[in-house]
Amino acid sequence: MPKIHVIHESGEPDQTVEFSAADAPFSHDGEPGSILDVLLGHKVHLEHACGGKCACTTCHVIVKEGEGNLSEMQDNEMDRLDTAPGLTMHSRLGCQAVPKGDVTIVIPKFNVNS
Ligand code: FES
Repeated sequence: MPKIHVIHESGEPDQTVEFSAADAPFSHDGEPGSILDVLLGHKVHLEHACGGKCACTTCHVIVKEGEGNLSEMQDNEMDRLDTAPGLTMHSRLGCQAVPKGDVTIVIPKFNVNS
């Protein structure tokens, strides 16, 4: 089963969630099986001001490992990410990126107040 390993830049302890994509959706927010959906469904907090509709950037995560295991970025995610504070070459929106295998992500500190 795929795993999402979460590193909190805020200093909270790392967390790992293992899930079966066949069980998606796990919550009411984001694309079914997306990082946001999986994390919320497993009680790991990720900001999601717009409710997972690709209309904010509060679910911004930085992918450290397993980028190739994520769904391909669509134009709407790319456009929205362009407005994200602290954008990197490895940034994704948690509500849009759907993991197909193991990934390690960082939740940036600034997400909490953005
Ligand atoms: S929750 Fe708003 S863009 Fe992902």
